[in-house]
Amino acid sequence: MIYAVANQKGGVGKTTTTINIAACIAAAGHRVLLVDADAQANATSGVLGGERPGPDAATTADVMLDGVPLSRARMGTVVPRLDLIPATADLAGAAVELVERGDGREGLLRSALQSAAAEYRYVFIDCPPSLDLITVNALVAADRLIVPVQCEYYALEGLSRLMETVSEVRARLNPSLVISGLLMTMHDPRTRISGEVVNEVRTHFPGLVFDTIVPRNVRVTESPSFGEPVVRYDPHCAAAEAYQQASREVMSRG
Ligand SMILES: Nc1ncnc2c1ncn2[C@@H]1O[C@H](COP(=O)(O)OP(=O)(O)O)[C@@H](O)[C@H]1O
Ligand SMILES: [Mg+2]
Repeated sequence: MIYAVANQKGGVGKTTTTINIAACIAAAGHRVLLVDADAQANATSGVLGGERPGPDAATTADVMLDGVPLSRARMGTVVPRLDLIPATADLAGAAVELVERGDGREGLLRSALQSAAAEYRYVFIDCPPSLDLITVNALVAADRLIVPVQCEYYALEGLSRLMETVSEVRARLNPSLVISGLLMTMHDPRTRISGEVVNEVRTHFPGLVFDTIVPRNVRVTESPSFGEPVVRYDPHCAAAEAYQQASREVMSRG
């Protein structure tokens, strides 16, 4: 099963959600492949424990545009059973190069990930903060979409455009794309707005919002500097426990 984690808004918790749910599912005993599709490469640095991809490392851009096999591009991470196709800044150029490719340019990542199914029960793609051709490639490659939504004013802003994009992708390129769920992130129980936003999003998207709500937690902001998902960095903090629970929802939604 291939999951895209997308929302064109930046800073809503896409990367945090991707690496933590992927790490939890790996800890549950499954082989998981994490595909970093954002030129900022936060998912890459978030699972390598302070290492970086070497100068010869093949990246998501190479896999998508140059047909480099997954077996050559993947690397191990600090999480057992979790492998990574890394991103580097060259993905920014890939977005431009994709525009210049003709027919079939939306399906390149899908083709590149075809061979992953034999080895990885779960594949997670961390998308960039835009609805560009890289995100479209992720939506075309995916069976499921997870949308992190930050608990703040204007949370709904942009979601209708994302849903339109999902509809277009379904109509033209990938009829089997299903929304796994919207995951509310950075919830602060001390503020009234956090609860209001959750209710508002649940009203707008009935049945689509995960029961689990991820709280705002300082341990999440610390873990990237150690190159570890928070579920490893501090497995018992509130956010880590929420991601454990969210990963079980993801697995049970199928
Ligand atoms: N539950 C949380 N509690 C506190 N900080 C968080 C939480 N989730 C994400 N963050 C922080 O918010 C910022 C944006 O998160 P990130 O996952 O990088 O979002 P995106 O990938 O959508 O841009 C990061 O600095 C991250 O550490
Ligand atoms: Mg990100």
